[in-house]
Amino acid sequence: MSLLQPTEPIEIMKQKAALRALECVRPGMKLGLGTGSTARYFVDGLGQKCADGLEVVCVPTSEATRAQAAELGIVMAELGALGRLDLTVDGADEMTRDLHLLKGGGGALLREKIVAAASDAMIVIADDTKLKDHLGAFALPVEVSKFAHDATAAALHGVFAQCGLSGAIALRGGETPFETDGGHFIYDCALGKIDAPHELASALVLVPGVVEHGLFLTYATGAVLAGADSLTELGDL
Ligand code: 5RP
Repeated sequence: MSLLQPTEPIEIMKQKAALRALECVRPGMKLGLGTGSTARYFVDGLGQKCADGLEVVCVPTSEATRAQAAELGIVMAELGALGRLDLTVDGADEMTRDLHLLKGGGGALLREKIVAAASDAMIVIADDTKLKDHLGAFALPVEVSKFAHDATAAALHGVFAQCGLSGAIALRGGETPFETDGGHFIYDCALGKIDAPHELASALVLVPGVVEHGLFLTYATGAVLAGADSLTELGDL
């Protein structure tokens, strides 16, 4: 078994961040496995270590990650059977220096947040283009129930206005909507700079029909950001 061999500079950066986070994994750990192109390198490296004898048990945050982990022979269990996890390693679409995250570009935000919330630590892995002064340049994903999803989208406009924000709200996938692993839809909300993310997060969870949103404000405990010739660590690793 050998590691993925990326050739694109950005992919090499993602793998570099992932392999640094892999150094934080200890035998016997209960791990959350993130979703996305960066997390894929972490799962790939973990599979290699497991093949070499590392014993860990993992909870995947998507069916895509579950399939990758299964192919690599990584031992998995249901979150409920494990209770608290020691560590989750996941990517992000944007992050700030205070470890606020915007996630969900890959559509796995609901399971990612459930797993992050059950973890004692969360290390974010990314290329350093993801580090921002403020969240919001990337459209905020909001996962909604399919039932009356357009009415929920209308309610979102109200919440954004109440928070002093505005912008286009687009159903992901358009006429053939993207469906999450949980069977929901996602609205991508182009809000621009989000000045008060806690206020927005609190307001979003009160909207009936909103299943989850992509603001992860209290979960990350550390981060590894890879540049072409640099590796920046934030928080605790
Ligand atoms: C999936 C996510 C991903 O972590 C996020 O989209 C980053 O993905 P990538 O590593 O491919 O840039 O939140 O729901």
